[in-house]
Formats: sequence, C-alpha cells, structure tokens
Amino acid sequence: MESFLNSIRNDHHQFDSGKLEDHFDSNPNDTIARWLREAIEKPANEPNAMSVSTVDSEGFPRSRIVYLKELVEDGLIFYTNYSSFKGNSIEGNNKVHVLIFWPELERQISISGFAEKVPDEMNDLYFESRPYGSKIGAWASHQSEILSSRQELEDRVNFYVDKFPLNVPRPPHWGGYLVKPTKIEFWQGRPSRLHDRIVYMKNEKNWKMTRLNP
Ligand SMILES: Cc1cc2nc3c(=O)[nH]c(=O)nc-3n(C[C@H](O)[C@H](O)[C@H](O)COP(=O)(O)O)c2cc1C
Repeated sequence: MESFLNSIRNDHHQFDSGKLEDHFDSNPNDTIARWLREAIEKPANEPNAMSVSTVDSEGFPRSRIVYLKELVEDGLIFYTNYSSFKGNSIEGNNKVHVLIFWPELERQISISGFAEKVPDEMNDLYFESRPYGSKIGAWASHQSEILSSRQELEDRVNFYVDKFPLNVPRPPHWGGYLVKPTKIEFWQGRPSRLHDRIVYMKNEKNWKMTRLNP
C-alpha cells in the first residue's frame, strides 16, 4: 500500500523543480511570464484563466474567472464590461486579488494589487482584433444586469447585427483593466506538503523577496 501511494506521489510531483531560488527572477513579472509560458507549453487546461476578486460597496468579496490577455511591464490585463458587477466594484474600490492555478504544474500565483482602466487606444486595438460575433456580443450583453429572457438577449444581438453589419465600433463600456501588483506569491507544490512559497512585496520601485512556511 505504502509503495503504491509513493508511486502516486512521485508521479504527482514529477514537476518538482528543486531549489526554488535558483529558478526565481529579481523581477516577479518575469517569473509570471515564464510560468505562464510553461503552462501553455505543458499544455495546462485553460492556462490563461485567472480568478479576479473584487470587494463591493457593502464589503462583500466576489470572485470570477477571466482571461489573462496580456502581460505588460506594469502588470496583468484582462478585458470586460466596465458596467458589470466587477466594473462597478472596482470603481468604488480598486484593490483586487488575482489567483492563477495550474494543477498540471502544481503551481499557484496569488497577486494583490490595484486595478486601473487601460488607455482607450489599447482597448480599441484589442477590440478590433476580436471576431465579429464577440464584438456584437459586447454590445448586446449588459453584463451582470438582470435579463428577462434569453430572447431579450438574442433580440439585442439581431439589433446590433443590423446596426453594424460590417464594422463594429468598440462599445464605450467595454475595455481592459490593468492589475498592478503590489504583492505576488508563487506557490510550487512539493512532496510531503513541504511546498515552496515565495513572496515578493513591492516597496517604492523595488521588490523584496521572502519565503513563507507552507
Ligand atoms: C474560462 C472563463 C473565462 C472567462 N473570461 C472572461 C473575460 O475575459 N472577461 C469577462 O468579462 N468575463 C469572463 N468570463 C465570465 C466571468 O467569469 C463572469 O461571469 C462575468 O465577467 C461577469 O462577472 P461579474 O458579474 O462578477 O462582473 C469568463 C468565464 C470563464 C469560465
């Protein structure tokens, strides 16, 4: 029984990467980029999916999955509807938390930071690259608002298809948020639950790296 369990464990931990410090960058953004690349190469299921948590006006946290669309020097970008529940929450409190989990690599990244809208030119550029149906959907969906029926949504889709048969402009309520991290924790699963946890805290412009108990 013991050896059977061990073989499962060993198999489960085939991505054990040895001494973590050897694999860490002085800038954690480089590590996020590398881990994302490795998740895509693996391939992990939905490597770009991440949970974004916001806090609403009553102090309630709420999480939802979005796609990480771009990594830039300042942080992580996802696109959404600015009038959605999350958009309204960020309007009142732009402290957010992002969680990324790649089970296939036994890795988790936990990010605290501030969300800010990305510039319109960037929104336009990304919106333009999307398929026609997604662009129409961005107009038709009043994200997070009550919908009386599926028909109401489909009627709005038809309305916008008639209105924008070819070129679909970006709706003003649609765009990206840049999450600028202030604290980033990298978690790497390792045998016997002796996992690695490496935390980067930002003070002024520099990142300070510490290690936490698992
Ligand atoms: C795999 C996956 C990817 C998603 N990607 C996005 C996304 O990039 N942007 C987005 O607004 N919603 C995305 N969603 C839907 C959100 O989880 C959520 O339902 C929606 O944004 C409304 O959230 P809110 O009412 O809390 O604002 C995705 C859902 C899943 C399961």
